[in-house]
Amino acid sequence: ALADVQARMLQQSAGEISTYDDDVALLSRAIVDEPGLTIREGGIIKDGYNAELDEYRRISRDSKSMLQEIEEREKAETGIKSLKIGYNKVFGYYIEVRNSGADRVPDRYIRKQTLAQAERYITEELKEFETKILGAQEKIVQIEYNLFCDVRDHIKAKLASIQQTAHAIARVDVLASLAEAAVNYGYVRPRLTQDGTIDIKDGRHPLVERILTRDLFVPNDAHLDHSDCEIMLITGPNMAGKSTYMRQVALLTLMAQAGSFVPAREATIAPVDRIFTRIGASDDLVSGQSTFMVEMNEVAQILKYATKDSLVILDEIGRGTSTFDGMSIARAVVEYIEKRVHAKTLFATHYHELTDMEDAKVKNYCVAVKERGSDVAFLRRIIPGAADKSYGIHVAKLAGLPKAVLKRAEQILAELETEQAKLDAVETADVSADAADNKAAKAATAKTAEPAMGSLFTSGLSDALLGLDIMTMTPIEALNELYKLQEQAKQEAGLS
Ligand SMILES: Nc1ncnc2c1ncn2[C@@H]1O[C@H](COP(=O)(O)OP(=O)(O)OP(=O)(O)O)[C@@H](O)[C@H]1O
Ligand SMILES: [Mg+2]
Repeated sequence: ALADVQARMLQQSAGEISTYDDDVALLSRAIVDEPGLTIREGGIIKDGYNAELDEYRRISRDSKSMLQEIEEREKAETGIKSLKIGYNKVFGYYIEVRNSGADRVPDRYIRKQTLAQAERYITEELKEFETKILGAQEKIVQIEYNLFCDVRDHIKAKLASIQQTAHAIARVDVLASLAEAAVNYGYVRPRLTQDGTIDIKDGRHPLVERILTRDLFVPNDAHLDHSDCEIMLITGPNMAGKSTYMRQVALLTLMAQAGSFVPAREATIAPVDRIFTRIGASDDLVSGQSTFMVEMNEVAQILKYATKDSLVILDEIGRGTSTFDGMSIARAVVEYIEKRVHAKTLFATHYHELTDMEDAKVKNYCVAVKERGSDVAFLRRIIPGAADKSYGIHVAKLAGLPKAVLKRAEQILAELETEQAKLDAVETADVSADAADNKAAKAATAKTAEPAMGSLFTSGLSDALLGLDIMTMTPIEALNELYKLQEQAKQEAGLS
């Protein structure tokens, strides 16, 4: 099939594939179609492959009829009707005679075992037969094992070549599968660039688009670069399609980099050094990590190892702790990525407060929805702008939460929203009361906000400082402490 291919990679693969006709013939001649699981119990080698093996197999196979023959003959000679031949592991083959026939037992019978109703005997002939049969079984296993080893050694001599063929076939298989998917599902060839840009027009999630049966998959654009939009801050209702969208961008990047066509109308993609993701909630109780600990560990790894050339997917950082803690961490992480890491980043969040971070490189995006009365229609369209509602209760209703819970939740939400509105009104009133002080007021809010944020990260240092008993320290101890504190400060600033 590969004889006439044009592509260099396929030509090379074709050159690495051998057919091994002789070995295939050997295997199909020697090995049974369904061998047992172990190699030391026989049942591996086909009949007709080895004359000696065939001979022992004949003996073993014929043993039943030979036994029957002996039994018939003994019955006739002795006239004992109840006579029969049996076998057990301890005594081997024996002739059993019920007590009723005891007086007819000939002298050549040697008594082996006495039972309540019968006696068991052996004869010279039976003994010989036994040695032959049991020997045959052993022989068969031994011969089969030896033959198997020969075949194995023969094949093993070609191991490297066979593995090369396997690799080449695997490669062709992957390429053929990607090509088939590209044709069947309308993928396009991505353009590769070196300038760090990801630009996708009408991209689709390769798996979600296939499993949707009721709805059509809505394609979406994506644009990330290092000048205008390094971080996409994505807000939008639950169930809107944020996670799907972010994974879609990561998958298309991965596919392009692996050499595949991608599900999109058009795509320009710069290779990345790594794709980092923080998705979903999981815990690792056995190794001592709670849900939130796992999340924070993963974020720590990402912030440590991501570079300007990485693609980072952060799906709702900080959900597993209190709102303020979570929001503070989320904001600080975005800041850190923007100021230090510079990785292309997709960041989905329900902390709508974060949308005020929009600046030269951080851009707000949201997923469009349409409110129809008390109903919400998900449009699945990623558009510029910030969302201010999550419609969580609406999604809870779709999921089938009890009516009483939904009703109560709506009530509580309404109360919280009026309280917030009141607070906001007071704030605006304060500020506008003295227009001249407007700036100062804002600065003051910023100031009060700042130490709170700062203290989240520096409390370790100040605790350590306050804990020092300076009066009793020697100069050397003080110097050591100072060194330690600086190391800690560096660590907290992410400098070490
Ligand atoms: N572009 C799309 N076209 C059609 N259906 C989509 C699209 N994106 C997502 N969906 C459907 O919507 C469902 C929810 O999407 P997703 O999990 O991405 O939402 P989300 O915004 O991350 O929600 P949450 O905030 O609850 O995590 C998906 O399982 C998928 O069936
Ligand atoms: Mg999600």
